[in-house]
Formats: sequence, C-alpha cells, structure tokens
Amino acid sequence: MIEKLNVVPFVSVDHMMKLVLAIGVERFLVELADEIETDFRRWESFDKTPRVASHSKEGVIELMPTSDGEVYGFKYVNGHPKNTREGRQTVTAFGVLADVGTGYPVLLTEMTILTALRTAATSALAAKHLAPRGARTMAMIGNGAQAEFQALAFKALLGVDRLRLYDIDRTASVKCVRNLAGMGLDMTICGSIEEAMEGVQIVTTVTADKQNATILTDNMVGTGLHINAVGGDCPGKTELHPDILRRSDIFVEYPPQTRIEGEIQQLPPDHPVTELWQVIAGRAPGRSDARQITLFDSVGFAIEDFSALRYVKRQIERTGLYEELDLLADPDDPRDLFGMLLRAQAAAPTAA
Ligand SMILES: NC(=O)c1ccc[n+]([C@@H]2O[C@H](COP(=O)([O-])OP(=O)(O)OC[C@H]3O[C@@H](n4cnc5c(N)ncnc54)[C@H](O)[C@@H]3O)[C@@H](O)[C@H]2O)c1
Repeated sequence: MIEKLNVVPFVSVDHMMKLVLAIGVERFLVELADEIETDFRRWESFDKTPRVASHSKEGVIELMPTSDGEVYGFKYVNGHPKNTREGRQTVTAFGVLADVGTGYPVLLTEMTILTALRTAATSALAAKHLAPRGARTMAMIGNGAQAEFQALAFKALLGVDRLRLYDIDRTASVKCVRNLAGMGLDMTICGSIEEAMEGVQIVTTVTADKQNATILTDNMVGTGLHINAVGGDCPGKTELHPDILRRSDIFVEYPPQTRIEGEIQQLPPDHPVTELWQVIAGRAPGRSDARQITLFDSVGFAIEDFSALRYVKRQIERTGLYEELDLLADPDDPRDLFGMLLRAQAAAPTAA
C-alpha cells in the first residue's frame, strides 16, 4: 500500500508492459472482461456523461470521466488516423483514479496499451452475449494497433481460433500474423473484404479513417452474423453502410454518446437500440435467434476505463510494478503552501 500523502503511484508504459506480460495477455483480457462485466451489472451506480470531445481537422482529443461515488476516474485519449504515417500511434491515452472522499488522485497510468486491452475485452464480452453460439471464425478488417488485442480477446473469451485478415495495407496483416504466430490461431491473409468475410460468424471492423467510410456493404452481411464495429467512433467517422444498421439488432454502451459518435449517427435519433449493460444484467435479451444479425456499435465508454484503472491499481499493489510520483504538494501545515516554497528556496538557493 502507498502511505505517503504526496506520492501517487505511476504506471509507465514500461511497467504496464511488464504487468501485462507477468499476468499473461489472455488472462489479463479475461480478468479485465470480468471486471467490466461486474461494473456493467451495477451500471446505475455510476455518473454518466458523453465524453467531452475537442475535434480538429486532423483528429480528436477526448476526456472520459465517471464516478461510482467512492472512486472517480478519467481518461485522456486522442484519435488521429494520420498519425501512423508520421511514426505516431493513432490512439494514445493516460488515465487517473481518485478518491472521492479526499479528491486526491490514487493512480496515474499510461492507457495506450490499457485502452487496446479494455476495448478488446469489451468487444469480446459483448460478443459472448451476441455472437452465434460456437462461433470459431472471425474476419478482422483493419489490422493496426488494436488488431492483435481483439484477436486474443475473442480467442480467450469465446474460443474463436480462425482469423481471416484484411487491411488496405498488406504489411499490417503480415505484422498481425507475425505477432500472433504460435498463439493457437489459424490465420489467413485475404486480398479483399469479400474474401475475408467467407464463412465467418463474426466480423470485427477496426479501421482508422477520418471519414464516413464504407468498410462493409449490405451484400457482405449474411444472416446470423455478429458485427463488432470498433473503428467508427467519432462524428463523421463510420465503417458500415446504413442498410446494414437497418437489418441489425443494435447494442450500444451509452446511447447519448453512441448516437453522436457511433455507427448509429447515420440513423434517426429515435432508432431503437439496446444498452449492452441491460443484456449483461439479464434485463434485455442478447442474441435470441440464429438468423439475427447482431451489431455491437462500440465507441468506448468511461466505465470500461474505470474498470481497467481499478483492475490495474489492484495488480500494481500486488506486484509493485509502479513508480512513486511526487505529484501532490504536502506542506507540514496544509495552509502553509507558500512557506513550503520558501523553505525549498532556503534549502536549495536558485542560481542567480
Ligand atoms: N471503439 C473503441 O472503444 C475504440 C478504442 C480504440 C480505438 N478505436 C478505433 O479503432 C480504430 C483502429 O485503431 P488502431 O489504433 O488499430 O489504428 P491503426 O491506425 O493502428 O490501424 C488501423 C488500420 O486500419 C487500416 N485501414 C484503414 N482504412 C482501411 C480500409 N478501408 N480497409 C481496411 N483497412 C483499413 C490501416 O491500414 C491500419 O492498418 C481507430 O478508428 C480508432 O479510433 C475504437
């Protein structure tokens, strides 16, 4: 346990990687999905708001806050599809947990890797309730930073062990195959989306493009398919033709946010959708028919990050994989902040 009042545990990218590898990627995904499932069951105990987005021509920067009354969490995340051309990530993130009682932060952590893990864990959790029973084959359209995490979450949670990969940049698919080699997946790189869709029960779309793209058209989507649509997550940034949406039963995280950001921004604002938490809590049906087309219109919601932050906090307390960050001023007399500054000057006079 961290006792010093001025110190906040900080998880760097290096420590996050060590933590994920120490736990094992698949076990981490399974435990994280459990954590998210538990929080979705108590959905009503959280403060909820659509994330606060600052859009620009190049991308978006977003803040994602929530609280359960005891713990507060937020994530800073960006989405800049052009970044990979300059050697940068499309999505980077960091996040904070804080104690509601004192307002003091209790964790600061990288969340670029953690976002990929929590997005994949949420996708697979949704698919557990929505995908056809016994699904083993998934098409993955878009093979960038999120792709391997998605693949391993579907393997760990659903037993999906055949992947059909497509990316407009074949080197991304080759990278995916290289990274996932020896992990129990049978992988095929396909030359077109149509080819990738052959014989699959699930399709994950996880492309990055700052526009209303049409990754899937209606003719590609057969009855009984589960669609895990991850890449359409901003106003004006979608992946599915609207005809697909009209044929699907649509499941979302938080409707007020998804209606702005998700695939359903293409539909009238009163188009019926089911909230995923209600399915998880047993209050609404998930898949009820083998011929049904189910769509998880994923955009990413603050409660998933809250769950991920709390999971990481427990794991670093267990493993010690963090640094102590001198983040909070802590004068002996709480009202003597200025005196603390003066004493620091006396201790180490500044160069003239
Ligand atoms: N829903 C969520 O919770 C959530 C979370 C994280 C990221 N995302 C979104 O997921 C998407 C992927 O993120 P990433 O970090 O993997 O990005 P990335 O840039 O690393 O990878 C995207 C891949 O998509 C490919 N691509 C682009 N257009 C394509 C097309 N028309 N057909 C096939 N492939 C295409 C690119 O070549 C690239 O390999 C982004 O749009 C991001 O905003 C969503």
